[in-house]
Amino acid sequence: MLDLLIQNAALPDGRCHMSVAVRGGKIVEVTAALNAPALQTVDAQGFLLSPPFVDAHFHMDATLSYGLPRVNQSGTLLEGIALWGELKPLLTQQALVERALAYCDWAVAKGLLAIRTHVDVCDARLLAVDALLHVKRQVAPYIDLQLVAFPQDGVLRAPGALDQLKRALDQGVDVVGGIPHFERTMADGAASVKLLCEIAAERGLRVDMHCDESDDPQSRHVETLAFETQRLGLCGRVTGSHLTSMHSMDNYYVSKLIALMAEAQLHAVANPLINITLQGRHDSYPKRRGMTRVPELLAAGINVAFGHDCVMDPWYSLGSGDMLEVAHMGLHVAQMTSQSAMRQCFDAVTVNAARVMGLENYGLAAGCNADFVLLQARDPVEALRLRANRLKVFRRGVLLAESAPASTQLHLVGRPVQTSFQTR
Ligand code: FE2
Repeated sequence: MLDLLIQNAALPDGRCHMSVAVRGGKIVEVTAALNAPALQTVDAQGFLLSPPFVDAHFHMDATLSYGLPRVNQSGTLLEGIALWGELKPLLTQQALVERALAYCDWAVAKGLLAIRTHVDVCDARLLAVDALLHVKRQVAPYIDLQLVAFPQDGVLRAPGALDQLKRALDQGVDVVGGIPHFERTMADGAASVKLLCEIAAERGLRVDMHCDESDDPQSRHVETLAFETQRLGLCGRVTGSHLTSMHSMDNYYVSKLIALMAEAQLHAVANPLINITLQGRHDSYPKRRGMTRVPELLAAGINVAFGHDCVMDPWYSLGSGDMLEVAHMGLHVAQMTSQSAMRQCFDAVTVNAARVMGLENYGLAAGCNADFVLLQARDPVEALRLRANRLKVFRRGVLLAESAPASTQLHLVGRPVQTSFQTR
């Protein structure tokens, strides 16, 4: 007897009329048109069953704080950092936990079941670290939350930051973060990359650095990150996040850099909603888009994910935890409009992001965790086009969330009342 049987589902790889059988929280079989006794059977009606959405880059300590204590007037990254600095002394553990838990509720509703969040360690109290470690334990039954020790004000630039980062790792934060472009000099930035990668290597941890999040074509910290990754034997365990300077770099240099990144098996995370919002702010016209070179990185065999980065915080006033919105923006900014490129964008918020986080047993295959989302769309491209409704969200074979199908009643003159679903 199965616990759960999903029938008549389309899968992201293009297979249709598929059945997914679940027992004991695991997928036991994925096959065409299976009929077997199950405690619960769901007719997917030909809609798309996807592994859950994964956000490889987020800031849960800042989320849902928009307007506190004021709004970012210039819209720049630097004013956002200054604004976060004003908010930090006012934070309370309770407020941090409440906002993070509220966001996690939004995430589950959107089928987003794994999130890598950076947590600011530039605070002697480590208030946000305590809060998010608490949240991680609390949401563990429904969300895989991975924490990155993020020295927002620079591990070398901010007094006490190195010690605080190490304390955060001692307390159970999973990944080593950094922000080399915010250190005082290019040399300090390079030194911070070296130092932080060494800490990760000593402790057997992964690395995820905000790296060259600027429009400066001369920024060279991605190169250093790739070098240190190889030197310390961290290949496949290091992520460069943002990498927006690559948008503005000289093409000749980039042709060398991408090869170095591939050699080091770096993962790359672009954050389309935030990159298009924050970058190019110092330009008149033309204004640079600022997102890193996603199609070129993918073509070189580099694993690229899209992250949400911010939702209603000092850097970004919008967002709802919808990774389809993230991918939708990503495909526009990168002009990834072919059928295959749009599917790559869907992968960037599912399988590629899972690879960044190192999630085990992720996917729609026998032996994987029975975690999936049923979308009101026939395929990944339609899911992107509609930012499709999440009909049902399952984790370990248990229903976590469900939404009524999105539909509109049309009352048009001279025609009978009809229902529009906007799906093919
Ligand atoms: Fe970020």
